[in-house]
Amino acid sequence: MAHLLVTGGAGFIGSNFVHHVVNTTPHTVTVLDALTYAGNLRSLNGIPADRLTFVQGDISDADLVDSLVACADAVVHYAAESHNDNSLSNPAPFVQTNVVGTFTLLEAVRRHKVRFHHISTDEVYGDLELDDPAKFTEQTPYRPSSPYSSTKASSDLLVHAWVRSFGVEATISNCSNNYGPYQHVEKFIPRQITNLIRGVRPRLYGAGTNVRDWIHAEDHSAAVLRILDAGRIGETYLIGANGEKSNIDVVRLLLQLMGRAEDDFDHVADRPGHDMRYAIDATKLRTELGWEPRFRDLEAGLSDTVDWYRANEEWWAPAKDATEAAYAAKGQ
Ligand code: NAD
Ligand code: TYD
Repeated sequence: MAHLLVTGGAGFIGSNFVHHVVNTTPHTVTVLDALTYAGNLRSLNGIPADRLTFVQGDISDADLVDSLVACADAVVHYAAESHNDNSLSNPAPFVQTNVVGTFTLLEAVRRHKVRFHHISTDEVYGDLELDDPAKFTEQTPYRPSSPYSSTKASSDLLVHAWVRSFGVEATISNCSNNYGPYQHVEKFIPRQITNLIRGVRPRLYGAGTNVRDWIHAEDHSAAVLRILDAGRIGETYLIGANGEKSNIDVVRLLLQLMGRAEDDFDHVADRPGHDMRYAIDATKLRTELGWEPRFRDLEAGLSDTVDWYRANEEWWAPAKDATEAAYAAKGQ
C-alpha cells in the first residue's frame, strides 16, 4: 500500500484516476487542486473518507507543495491549464501553472527523493497531415503549436532535465484526447452532448475534418498506474487506443446516438492554428508493460458517456451557460 499525491485530482482525468486507484488498489490518496473553473469537488463524491484527503491549493505554492510531497510515496501530476482555446485568449495562467507549477513540484520531489509521474499530452509533437501514414512515437521531435501545448512541452523538458541533472525518479506519459465522465463542458465531446441534451445544435470548428485519437479516461488511468508500478525511470510512454476519428464523424455519431438527423449541426469559426491530426503509436507501452485498452469501440464508449451526461445534469449545468457565452463572444 502506498500514499499518492495527485495534483489536479478534481479535474477531468485526475478525478477519473483517483476513482480508479481507490477501486483497484489499497493505496490512499491526497488530492492537491486549486479548484479553478475546471475543478469540481463533486467529481470525487463517493470516495471513502479514509482513502482520500482533499487539499485546496496551488501547485506553485512551494511551502504547501513541500509539506505534501514530504508525506507522499509518489506524486502523479495532472494539474494544468488544459484547454487550447483558453490558451489563445489568455496564455498567462498556462505558463504559470504548467511551467512554474511543474518546476515547483520537481524541486519538492528532488528534495524529498519522491517518485514522480508527469502527465502530458501528444500535442507536444505538433500535428500530422491527414494523409500521412505516420503516428507519433516516443522518438517524434517536439513541435508544439499552441500556448497550451508549448507549455506542456516545456514542462516535459523540465522533467527530463531533473532526471538527468538531479537523479529525480520520474516517468512521463503523453496521452491522446480523452473522453468519459467528469469532462468539463468546454471540451469538444461534452460540449456537443450537453448542447444536444438542451436542444442546441453541435458546433464544428471549420470544416470538421481535423482528426483526434480518442481514448477513454478509464484506459488512460490504468496505463498511468501501470507506468507508476513498472515504468523505467527517465522514460516516456505514449498512451493511445487506436481511436482516430474526424470531428465531423464524432458529431455524426453523437447525433445518431441521441436520435437526431446526421446533418443537424453548425459549422462555426475555426480555431487559429488548429492542429490537423493527432495519432499515437502505443507499441512501447503495450509490449514493455503489457497494457491494453478495455474500451476498444468508440461508439460504445460514447454511448456510456452520453448516458452519464444525461444522468448528471446537476454536475455540468452550473458551468454550461458561462461556457457557451464565452464561445458565443468568439463566434463559436
Ligand atoms: P482539467 O482542466 O479538467 O483539470 C485540471 C485540474 O487542475 C482542475 O481540477 C484544476 O482545478 C486543477 N488546477 C489548475 N491549475 C492548478 C494549479 N495552479 N494548482 C493546482 N491545481 C490546479 O484537465 P484534464 O483534461 O483533466 O487534464 C489533466 C492533465 O492531463 C493535464 O496535465 C493535461 O495536459 C493532460 N492531458 C489531457 C488530455 C485531454 O484529453 N483532456 C489528453 C492528454 C493529456
Ligand atoms: P478539444 O476537446 O478542445 O481538444 P484538443 O484541442 O486538445 O484536441 O477539441 C477537440 C477537437 O474538436 C479539436 O479539433 C477542436 C474541435 N472542436 C470543435 O470542432 N468544436 C468545439 O466546440 C470544440 C470545443 C472543439
